[in-house]
Amino acid sequence: MELNILTICYLIGSITFILGLKMLSNPATARKGNLVAAGGMTIAIIGTIFLYKDEAGQKLHNYIWIFGGLAVGTIVGVMAAKKVKMTAMPEMVSLFNGMGGACAALISIVEFNHLTSGKNEIDLYLTGIPHGQLLIILLGLIIGSVSFAGSMIAWGKLNGSVKDFSFPGQHIFNIVLLLLIVGLATFLVINLNGSNAFVFYIILALSLLYGTLFVFPIGGADMPVVISLLNSFTGVAAACGGFLYDNKVMLTGGILVGAAGTLLTILMCKAMNRSLANVLIGSFGAKKVAGPGAAPGEQGAYKEISLSDTAVVMSYASKVIIVPGYGLAVAQAQHACHELEKMLEEKGVSVKYAIHPVAGRMPGHMNVLLAEADVSYDKLEEMEQANEEFSSTDVVLILGANDVVNPAAKSDPSSPIYGMPILDVELAKTVIVNKRSMKPGYAGIENDLFFRPKTSMLFGDAKKVLQDLIAEIKSL
Ligand code: TAP
Repeated sequence: MELNILTICYLIGSITFILGLKMLSNPATARKGNLVAAGGMTIAIIGTIFLYKDEAGQKLHNYIWIFGGLAVGTIVGVMAAKKVKMTAMPEMVSLFNGMGGACAALISIVEFNHLTSGKNEIDLYLTGIPHGQLLIILLGLIIGSVSFAGSMIAWGKLNGSVKDFSFPGQHIFNIVLLLLIVGLATFLVINLNGSNAFVFYIILALSLLYGTLFVFPIGGADMPVVISLLNSFTGVAAACGGFLYDNKVMLTGGILVGAAGTLLTILMCKAMNRSLANVLIGSFGAKKVAGPGAAPGEQGAYKEISLSDTAVVMSYASKVIIVPGYGLAVAQAQHACHELEKMLEEKGVSVKYAIHPVAGRMPGHMNVLLAEADVSYDKLEEMEQANEEFSSTDVVLILGANDVVNPAAKSDPSSPIYGMPILDVELAKTVIVNKRSMKPGYAGIENDLFFRPKTSMLFGDAKKVLQDLIAEIKSL
């Protein structure tokens, strides 16, 4: 009877994961989706703690460890989630993902010890090596440790404490390392005996080294793609745990995370028009045309626009499209932006937002940011839709976006972002760009858009500029 209730708990967990994922795909239901999936996970965890019985009919008994771990995890998780800034979200995702990978690797270590402890060569010969079980243990160990080490490096890179590092021939070295890990794992699956169990720990060390070296040379701008890839690794490692314990909910959860991470990786690569191999081997932004210190005017002439002129141009427009970017998130200007939108609409101006798929630093960054400020979802236009509308737009206001509106992506084959689909803001009658300086964006390259005749620069912090602009429009 208890087993049946546990099976029902797992079924509820699996269904809520799927429903939650589906709901996450729409900003209007995303928050609820997260809660639904978390609720299902809670039911599955509580069910396991109180109803699970092993083959000998033994229930779990080490409650102090279990609830101690749960309490520490909950406190750390809640505090981290409350404290984290939107712009530091990829960092947090990376850290949490790394913990998932570490868990999967630890499960493999524990289960390997169960398999081998106290057994010598003769015992293992008599009982036979459980090749399938050992294979899954090793897969969980390798994938989990690669994901853990890689996520830690990605986390360090995003918070600035780890710098890019590579050495000549590193990619070849990495391939050799991976082959060595696969070779040793195959050897152990076939030949495990009482005296060669140490090879397991060599595999663990080499996997940690591989995870580190694999992420080290990849450029900072590509970290979200790498994190998503590592996320899918963690999912697969967790699914190995599900196989090991014959735990359906762990298996379903792992597979869903693995599949979602893989799809997200592919979508991000597509949005940047780059192959995964190019992300992993090439370094985006390596060819910097203009360094961060590039002074205004070095690349040609650009013109500035005053706040009062911007207020007039926008107030008398009939259609305005706002292009939000990373700078809007840094300035936390989403609320001011929404206020400007409402004010212009009151004046009869139609206002929409053009959302580039990789604007900001993580998938859906702009959608989440604008949703936080209660911007209506039907005002958000995806890139293809917005590109059709720019030609009938009077004013495009770019707020802290740079790479996603860089025409070099279309016209300059030597540009590192060449081929990335961009927002065709130039089709509009007037383009106003708000940023603080002429410094480049994440890809580290100059943007010719800023020097074109239709473009005017409105310098300053996005939040301050928007607040001042609102005051100007009010005074008109
Ligand atoms: P960026 O190209 O990084 O440009 C952001 C601009 O915001 C900068 O040029 C900066 O100029 C400006 N800025 C910074 N702080 C500001 C502030 N307080 N007020 C006003 N402006 C400010 O951003 P984007 O156009 O959103 O492009 C995103 C980049 O990230 C792309 O290269 C994309 O490929 C990459 N990326 C994104 C993702 C995802 S999933 N979103 C994944 C991988 C890579 P100043 O310093 O002069 O102010």
